[in-house]
Amino acid sequence: MTPTGIIGERRVNDPVTIVIFGASGDLTHRKLIPALYIAYAQDLLPEKFTIVGFARRDYDDAIYRGMLSDSIKKFSRLPVEDETVDRFIQHIRYHKGDISTMEAYAELKEKFKDTEAYPENHLFYLSIIPSLFKTAVQSLKESGLVADPAADQWTRVIIEKPFGRDMESALALNSALLQYLDESQIYRIDHYLGKETVQNILSFRFANAIFEPVFNRSYVDHIQITASETVGMEMGRGGYYDEYGAVRDMVTNHILQLLCLVTMEPPGDLSADAIRNEKVKVLNAAKLDIHENISDAVCRGQYGEGTDAEGNTTKGYLKEDRIHPESTTETYAAMRLSIDNWRWAGVPILLRTGKAMAKKTTEIAVQFKVPPLQLFQQVECDDDVCDLTHIRPNTLIFQIQPNEGIFLKVGTKRPGMRFVVEDVKMDFSYSGTWSKSLPEAYERLLLDTLHGDSTLFTRSDEVEAEWRVVQPIFDNQDQLKPFPYPPNAWGVEEADWLFHGVEGQWRNT
Ligand SMILES: NC(=O)c1ccc[n+]([C@@H]2O[C@H](COP(=O)([O-])OP(=O)(O)OC[C@H]3O[C@@H](n4cnc5c(N)ncnc54)[C@H](OP(=O)(O)O)[C@@H]3O)[C@@H](O)[C@H]2O)c1
Repeated sequence: MTPTGIIGERRVNDPVTIVIFGASGDLTHRKLIPALYIAYAQDLLPEKFTIVGFARRDYDDAIYRGMLSDSIKKFSRLPVEDETVDRFIQHIRYHKGDISTMEAYAELKEKFKDTEAYPENHLFYLSIIPSLFKTAVQSLKESGLVADPAADQWTRVIIEKPFGRDMESALALNSALLQYLDESQIYRIDHYLGKETVQNILSFRFANAIFEPVFNRSYVDHIQITASETVGMEMGRGGYYDEYGAVRDMVTNHILQLLCLVTMEPPGDLSADAIRNEKVKVLNAAKLDIHENISDAVCRGQYGEGTDAEGNTTKGYLKEDRIHPESTTETYAAMRLSIDNWRWAGVPILLRTGKAMAKKTTEIAVQFKVPPLQLFQQVECDDDVCDLTHIRPNTLIFQIQPNEGIFLKVGTKRPGMRFVVEDVKMDFSYSGTWSKSLPEAYERLLLDTLHGDSTLFTRSDEVEAEWRVVQPIFDNQDQLKPFPYPPNAWGVEEADWLFHGVEGQWRNT
């Protein structure tokens, strides 16, 4: 029986061999293989497909299949059926090899001669550390494993973030990739773009006539984007995180992508390039709102010791595993941007992200201006005790996670003899509207790659434009010492300053 869940997806027709570099890694076990299994169980994979796991560990097909079978049962978002898992894993093979040695590619090429077992369209998924990206694509190309982009059989390569650590390394990575691959063959994955609510930003804005006319500087007071996590350093992430920090880990990809979708102009059509052209335009108009110093526009923080929501004592960042004891890496970053174009000039854009925060949430809040006339004696109520107060502005919230949905805060008359205006939430939530479980981002993105649809992937000029926005932070790091903040709270108090002149404050969501 096929589990229900994905809504009306198209089946992939092209037979394909999917090679996963990093086959023994966390991402493969937790996300990639469960996503491919669900696609298979829903009959969305082609009739002929083979998955090859590529890593150095000493596994064989049987051992590897057994491990993946366990991972599917543990991590699949839908109930699994043993018989379907058994059929699925028969499509999986293990290829032991080192990415840095040409021998591994020659052996792979030799196997690929059996085109019945290994269909000739090739998807290479680079689920490996970024320092191996160049070696992998260069070796694929030099081994003759990359098809000409105009050939009948295709080659596609998925690359996991981070796409560099600053402007210079991003440019170097792009030029290295483009030396061996055509841009049309590269799929830079940002799993945020695979989320339903993220895609829904475009439908919300451009499939409804009523909101777009007010999405501009005449009506919008400011935009806030928050991506907060309650966890500090997850097991084993310390080494990576300490080298990157919150700006590189979250802002230069996920958060700026959200900003693009909520502020870009309508594309001429829904083709990948039409959408990506508009994203690049808005990124090119975006800049940190610096007047004299970088600290006018940016605030960094690092969490200290404290207690979590259950009252347990938690370690400060500097005491976490694989963190340098004198590290100045930020675990929290907040910044104020402006977008210098006709639509958004003068509208403050506030972004923040952090670890060890009070709540796990990702949301975009578009706050509108207050009405020009305070017609009502506005009242704020706490149960039945009401005080005169300022009118509250309307806020439109795109809730990306958890509880995906779109909410609009409006003022309404409270029932009763007095004229008391109170905020209510008009809401559309996915779980309340559709009973089906939402597809995981990786399900959607893997299927899109197999279909050759790069709309939800980041193009090289987009990546470069993202790094350009944040590069001043790295250039002036010495002026941005991280402020300490307590865990299980809303980050750094000093970041409140970024709201100067704005009708509002950080939302404690
Ligand atoms: N995990 C996540 O949730 C997540 C989320 C977003 C992005 N990412 C990105 O996804 C990528 C993979 O992350 P991960 O967490 O899965 O990493 P991981 O658990 O450390 O796995 C790395 C994999 O690379 C393989 N590998 C390393 N050196 C190799 C070599 N020379 N030759 C062949 N294989 C080699 C390792 O296998 P052997 O040791 O057996 O060779 C292992 O399978 C990274 O770029 C990461 O930034 C991960």
